[in-house]
Formats: sequence, structure tokens, C-alpha cells
Amino acid sequence: MTQIRHQILPSLLSADFGKLEENIKRLEALGVTTLHLDIMDGNFVPNISFGPDIVSTIRKITKLTLDTHLMIQHPEAYIEKFYEAGSDILTVHAEATVHLHRTVTRIQELGIKAGVAINPATPLVMLEEILPFVDLVLIMSVNPGFGGQKYIATSTKKISVLKELIAKLNVQPIIEVDGGINAETIQTALAAGAEYFVAGHAVFANNNIELNYHTLKTLLQ
Ligand code: DX5
Ligand code: ZN
Repeated sequence: MTQIRHQILPSLLSADFGKLEENIKRLEALGVTTLHLDIMDGNFVPNISFGPDIVSTIRKITKLTLDTHLMIQHPEAYIEKFYEAGSDILTVHAEATVHLHRTVTRIQELGIKAGVAINPATPLVMLEEILPFVDLVLIMSVNPGFGGQKYIATSTKKISVLKELIAKLNVQPIIEVDGGINAETIQTALAAGAEYFVAGHAVFANNNIELNYHTLKTLLQ
């Protein structure tokens, strides 16, 4: 049986943090299974978001899978903290950690899934040796740091080449795409082979969460 892995992961970065609990409950009611949490350190990316304390607050609100995207330098120093906060998937940037294999292995030893992310300007060849060891690959389709940016069109080709590489190596990491995913871009990324679609602005825009989510979901059928 082929496993259906396509899903939309709302990025809480675009949520109204004053109504976090209400927003999460609305996403649960829509059948969302995984939330995407963007962690920014003001160093790896030119913005600061939130840290493990907020992840643990979110963990208390919901049982949904928490996909934590670490846009931080030296993520290896914070793995335990984000694990203890309740993350189910921890994704680190290949550009941010020198011993990527060690970092990925440490995440998996904790019993959670490990992902590796690459920025738009980082070539896929950076991933070749790590692919057999990761549960997920995150292709950034914008330069990380902010929600609501425009999808970089060359990301589509990158996703399809990654899919070929994964098939060639006979490994099974999930392909996740993050940045500028909306009603105009989601089907291009789908056709290229993406399976997890992170969407911030496109889900939370104008607080029309239900309608926005439904529009994206319909485009994935
Ligand atoms: C960008 C973050 C994304 C962001 C996506 O630095 O990694 O997850 O929240 O936001 P949208 O979907 O608005 O591009
Ligand atoms: Zn992200």
C-alpha cells in the first residue's frame, strides 16, 4: 500500500499569538495533523521568533505532531531543549551545523524524527551523504527569516531533482517545502514531488483559517 504523505503544515509564525490556543483548536477541527514551528535566533537568520518555552506551551495546548524548524546557528547545542519541550520532528539547517551526521544521529537517539533543511542558494549535493540518515528533507523556497515572502521559482526543479536522488539512493525521507506556498504555488511543488507543504501566510491571512486551509487542501487532491 502506498502511504499518502501529502499534508499541509500550518506555520504558527503567521498566527495571532494572542489567540494561540484558539487558533490551534481551529486547526485541529480542520483535521490538521502537524504544526510547523519556526525557531529563529537573529543570527542564522535576520529575525527572532520564539524558543523552547513557547514550544512547550504549545505542547500543553495540543497533541498534534510538532515539526520544529531550527533556523539557528549550532543547533546541536539546543536539541535536548527542543526535544524536552515536546518536538516530534527536529529539523536543522545543513549550513548551521558542522557535524551534520552527528547532529542528526543525536536527534534520532532521542526517539524523534530528524530533518535537514537547505537554503535556496545551497546546492543539493550538500545532502547526498546525509540522505540515507534523515527522516525528512526541507527545501527552503524562500530565504528563511520571514513569513509572507515570494516562492523562488527555481525551488521546483530542486524538489524534482531531490526526488530523483532519493529514488536513486533507495531511501525514504519525506520531502518538505517551506516558503511562499499558496494557492498559486502549491500544485507546482506537488507535481515536483513535495509531500509536506508548510504554509504560514496562506493559512492565517485575514484570520480566514478555515477557508484558506480548505482552498489549499482542495488543490492537493
Ligand atoms: C520562513 C519560515 C517559514 C515561514 C513560511 O523563514 O521557515 O516556515 O513561516 O511562511 P509563508 O508560508 O508565509 O511563506
Ligand atoms: Zn519554517
